[in-house]
Amino acid sequence: MSKHELFYLYDVPNHDEIKDKLLLYFDELTEKHNLCQNPSRNISSTDYFHLKGSPPYKPIILDNLVPIIIDKLLPVFYCKGIEFQGCWFQQYNKGSDFSYHNHPRSHFAGIYYIELPDSPTEFLGFDSPTVNEGQLLVFPSYLVHKSPVNNSDERKTVVAFNFSITFKEH
Ligand SMILES: [Fe+2]
Repeated sequence: MSKHELFYLYDVPNHDEIKDKLLLYFDELTEKHNLCQNPSRNISSTDYFHLKGSPPYKPIILDNLVPIIIDKLLPVFYCKGIEFQGCWFQQYNKGSDFSYHNHPRSHFAGIYYIELPDSPTEFLGFDSPTVNEGQLLVFPSYLVHKSPVNNSDERKTVVAFNFSITFKEH
């Protein structure tokens, strides 16, 4: 039996292929829905407050990230299926950040790092894992975490999502 870890880090094999497609979606959605307007949060653009549920780029996430979880994470827990519980994107220009929070009502959260100049995710009470652009980080949803201030001139972009694991196939 595989040892359980707190953080699971996976390379996304098709990162170079899907990165540009996803960024195009985010640009279009930002312009169409004015997603730069997040008065309560210091995030440069996110669809979290506007399009939560089934955004147009969701098939890319389901096709490229979920198989990684099914192949690599589920066997660790003797599980066979996942309940995908929504995804959203977040972009951070220089000076932007997202304060401490966690993700209730799911077993795990995933963060796919699409653009990562610096400022990887920080976890309260734990050493933050080293991550690189093109990687998927999975962790228990109760862990409190934040996106620290982006001090780089380059933009940071992630897709985050929640899921639970089940003994049934879906
Ligand atoms: Fe989060």
